Amino acid sequence: MSTLEQRIGNVVFKSPVTVGAGPLTGRPDLLKKAAECGAGAVSIKQTPYSQPRPGVRKMYAERGGYFFNPSDTRLDYRKTVDMIEQIKDTTDMPILVNILGDGLNVESWVFLADLFERAGADGVELNFACPNPPDKLGAGAEGYQYGASISHHPELARQIISGLTQEVRIPVWVKYSGYGTDIASLARIAWESGAAGITAFCSLKGVYPIDIYQGGKPRMAAMDSCSFGGINGPAIKEASKRVVADAHKAVPALPIIGGGGISKPEHAIETIMFGADLVFMHTQIMLEGFEIIKAFNDSILRFMEEQGYDSIADMKGLALKYEIPVNELDYTIGPPAKVDPEKCVGCGICEKIAFCRSIHLSGGKAQVEEELCECCGLCASVCPRKAISFG
Ligand SMILES: Cc1cc2nc3c(=O)[nH]c(=O)nc-3n(C[C@H](O)[C@H](O)[C@H](O)COP(=O)(O)O)c2cc1C
Ligand code: SF4
Ligand code: SF4
Repeated sequence: MSTLEQRIGNVVFKSPVTVGAGPLTGRPDLLKKAAECGAGAVSIKQTPYSQPRPGVRKMYAERGGYFFNPSDTRLDYRKTVDMIEQIKDTTDMPILVNILGDGLNVESWVFLADLFERAGADGVELNFACPNPPDKLGAGAEGYQYGASISHHPELARQIISGLTQEVRIPVWVKYSGYGTDIASLARIAWESGAAGITAFCSLKGVYPIDIYQGGKPRMAAMDSCSFGGINGPAIKEASKRVVADAHKAVPALPIIGGGGISKPEHAIETIMFGADLVFMHTQIMLEGFEIIKAFNDSILRFMEEQGYDSIADMKGLALKYEIPVNELDYTIGPPAKVDPEKCVGCGICEKIAFCRSIHLSGGKAQVEEELCECCGLCASVCPRKAISFG
């Protein structure tokens, strides 16, 4: 019989579907809801050591597209302790806490990790990922590095992780940024420095949505100006799986919580097949409600039973056996596209492909001029009836 349950270190995760740090994990009632809906774990909203500036929650969503947030509130560590203590009494769902120390001040990370371990947390997740904080704070804090900027300085990451793991017993997960970073080196650093695993990745940094009819004014509710900030949701999905894959290839034994842009159970399975042990979601739950976690669990389990996978580990990294270096791609031009007239409904979608000279509608059906076909495969991928094949 298939199971969703996994043990990583001493922690048991009943489902591979976890809730990433963010607004959904900053209140006890929300954590309880996540547990009731079958989340495998939650990562409590970022708790920083210092509060560098006031936190403000600003968000914008284009359903099915992307989610933009240039800023969010942060938790005070006393509130986080209360929250862990409350939730620990009501559930055995593992609790990670997303923490942000003051850059190279290792004591600040140790302070938070130690505090949350004593409160009953099952792990801390170092926030080397948030694209929103500035690289450096102003006067008095010169040299401190925050959030994603730590992922851009691998040796800084190494010093913080190894300094922390020498001082605390609680499992230390590291949430890395994926954009413009050498994730393979960062994965090795996490492994060599004694981390329990990594979370990959957080958000891309993008621009705010604008109203082109108002001279480019931000289309953010009640805001006349805005800063650039995190882009999450479907727009980052393929990039996030690549980051998971590169981390897994670099250190196959390293546990990975993978995510970014997951909105369907299939995306969770894909992320596992590219090397994740667990997945995290935020945007989709934010828009659809915690109940979708139940649906994810049911779908993933059904898929495993139908496909004969006993455990999540059986699926981990499977897709990578098909990966080859780009210089080993097959450069011969294969057989031309073939249209199945029984399936083709003459919708004309394939005919619109602008560079293609070979596919045209004739008598209400698509037809291919074989000698002009480059076998690129694009028409087959866009055909809604799966009427095009090769060979
Ligand atoms: C409003 C908002 C706040 C977030 N706050 C945090 C945070 O405090 N710490 C963190 O590591 N990630 C934070 N994230 C990132 C999410 O945990 C997640 O990595 C990201 O949204 C990508 O996943 P998704 O596409 O499923 O939303 C935040 C995301 C959003 C949208
Ligand atoms: S996209 Fe598919 S169904 Fe539509 S015309 Fe082309 S082959 Fe036919
Ligand atoms: S495989 Fe490429 S070149 Fe051939 S018909 Fe389809 S889109 Fe055109």
